Amino acid sequence: MAIGDSSAVYSEKRVFSQHQSALTLLQHQFSKVLNDNYLWLDLAAGKGQIISSLEDIINPSIMPKIVYHAFDANQIFLDVAMVKASKIDLKADRFIGQMENFPRLVDETPQYNFVSLINVVHEIGPYLFAEVLFEALIRLKEDGVIYVYDMEAIDPLEVGALPLNQLEVLKILETFYSSLGTSLTPNVSKWQHSTTTSWNFTISIKDLNVSRDSLKENKDQIISSTRQFIQVLIEEKFTRCIRQLDLYTKHQTELVGDDASKIRLLYEFWALNRLRGVSV
Ligand SMILES: C[S@@+](CC[C@H](N)C(=O)[O-])C[C@H]1O[C@@H](n2cnc3c(N)ncnc32)[C@H](O)[C@@H]1O
Repeated sequence: MAIGDSSAVYSEKRVFSQHQSALTLLQHQFSKVLNDNYLWLDLAAGKGQIISSLEDIINPSIMPKIVYHAFDANQIFLDVAMVKASKIDLKADRFIGQMENFPRLVDETPQYNFVSLINVVHEIGPYLFAEVLFEALIRLKEDGVIYVYDMEAIDPLEVGALPLNQLEVLKILETFYSSLGTSLTPNVSKWQHSTTTSWNFTISIKDLNVSRDSLKENKDQIISSTRQFIQVLIEEKFTRCIRQLDLYTKHQTELVGDDASKIRLLYEFWALNRLRGVSV
């Protein structure tokens, strides 16, 4: 997936809602940090906006025990994140690469307490989603947690980006969970903000109650069955998009004034059309 239009915000000390919920989870986990380092992998970390308010959130005695690993395709963004980390005495390292190379660039050892994936699913595309979730999962420590957040619609629009809605993410997660072999029911929450609607979910490896060996043994099947389900979902979304564009084409005069929806649909059409060409 192209990241031509991708941007990452950096605003000193500003806390965005997507980061606040992740930080609230961390706040709870940090209180349990004793002797071991607490390893946090931030996938598509951008400029590290999430750490910009870390020093306000945690007990200063805990900061030296946290190790922040920021992964992103954009080296300049990561440089900003590393400068911020050093300003607050947070141990940090960066991994530069495309998301599809994350399994090769980040050691497979189950070393992470927390993996975050914030505001990026629409950019990496749904097909990579299953693999990224799986690879993040096997890198978690026994009590590790994955946190995923994204928006149902992005503004400004990005060419090639495909936002998913809460229901679509829930269906993907149900397929993923069932291929993992867990009896756990996934939960995806929807948040209606004043300017956007977003969704988020967490996965705790302990709660899944599936052995790491069985996860690894079934890796190909887990990823491919989830991707196949996503392919069906993409086809359905494409059909709905065409139907809607067809309506706009036939009834232009009645729908005059609805330019924003038409433009949004055209962006969606392009993203879906590209995805249909991908073999899964
Ligand atoms: C909207 S920003 C979100 C940044 C950060 N997670 C946050 O919440 O502030 C999206 C980030 O994803 C990165 N990104 C997009 N596609 C990527 C890909 N295929 N591989 C690695 N990083 C990618 C971009 O470089 C950008 O930093």
